[in-house]
Amino acid sequence: MSSISEITKAGVVLLAAVGALTITIKALSFWRLIFDLYIRPGKSLKKFGAGTGAWAVITGASDGIGKEFAYQLAAAKFNVFLISRTESKLQDISNDIESKYQVKSRIYAMDFTKGDKRDYENLKEIIEELVDVGVLINNVATNHEIPTPFILETDEIVNNIVEVNISGLLRTTKIILPKMISSNRGLIINVGSFSGMIPTPYLSVYSASKAFMSTWSAALGAELKSKGIVVENVNTYFVVSAMSKIRRSSWLIPLPKPYVKSVLSKIGVPGGATHIPYSSNAYPSHAIANWIITSTFNLSFWVKQGLAQQEDIRKRALKKREREAAAAKAQ
Ligand SMILES: NC(=O)c1ccc[n+]([C@@H]2O[C@H](COP(=O)([O-])OP(=O)(O)OC[C@H]3O[C@@H](n4cnc5c(N)ncnc54)[C@H](OP(=O)(O)O)[C@@H]3O)[C@@H](O)[C@H]2O)c1
Repeated sequence: MSSISEITKAGVVLLAAVGALTITIKALSFWRLIFDLYIRPGKSLKKFGAGTGAWAVITGASDGIGKEFAYQLAAAKFNVFLISRTESKLQDISNDIESKYQVKSRIYAMDFTKGDKRDYENLKEIIEELVDVGVLINNVATNHEIPTPFILETDEIVNNIVEVNISGLLRTTKIILPKMISSNRGLIINVGSFSGMIPTPYLSVYSASKAFMSTWSAALGAELKSKGIVVENVNTYFVVSAMSKIRRSSWLIPLPKPYVKSVLSKIGVPGGATHIPYSSNAYPSHAIANWIITSTFNLSFWVKQGLAQQEDIRKRALKKREREAAAAKAQ
């Protein structure tokens, strides 16, 4: 009898020890998150050439997050090279930036979905003319129009996502890297997504393209570290923008301005995302959401949540399409 009660006692002690250890690990990881977000400074942009005539290259620079990167990097005294489809928007932003911040700017209008060899040759020529490139913001991306089962998605949208989010990312970086390697320093920010961390049903191709970005960033970051080049996949939850189709900001969903400000002030600080090397969570509420996701349930749980969420968004998007089609017919 006494040996059974001793075994039970030992079991309780073991359980308590495991419980205490688990709580201590979680508490330490939460403290690490708070330290990263509110105390630990990021690397200075001066390390990458701010104020010395170096250039920052930004893809998808005419709207949303990319446009904000262009303004904030120009305010930090980088010359800026802006790339997106719409030349008129790029020209307006370029003029505004030059007059506001007294830096140089260049633009190039191209559609990354085309994968046109001539565009990349032209990009290469322009980049060769820039004496010093300190920063690359790989921001351009395209997404499914609405959440759509893979089997129903058009070949055009699937190809566009691969061409912009994967091929465009690789080809642009390959053009710019030699400049950074020759100056022994550089910063490559890849604008990632939570959907790269949690596989997202109904946005499967976009989600996989962002997983590609995160894996590639980690591998490239390790390759380039000894060459003085910092690579960072910025894990992003929602931000108000045309792509997110969210118009109002909230605690969890910032405007591009505070979002980009956080990213640029926390370079090299993981923000709790220690399980993915060379990845960071710069914006505080996104970092807290990431901490909750990675410290509570397993990935299968979050994939299931994502499935339910995307099914709901799809239903509402299809109803909206029906309403718009009926309204157009009535006119
Ligand atoms: N917003 C979010 O909630 C969120 C969340 C996670 C990750 N992200 C990531 O953040 C990045 C920026 O997204 P955003 O929300 O700022 O998007 P956005 O407001 O829609 O801006 C997209 C930018 O890319 C350009 N662009 C789009 N398609 C292009 C193409 N085929 N060729 C060349 N340029 C193109 C657009 O300009 P033109 O139309 O003039 O070409 C625009 O400048 C993306 O990588 C996205 O995956 C966003």
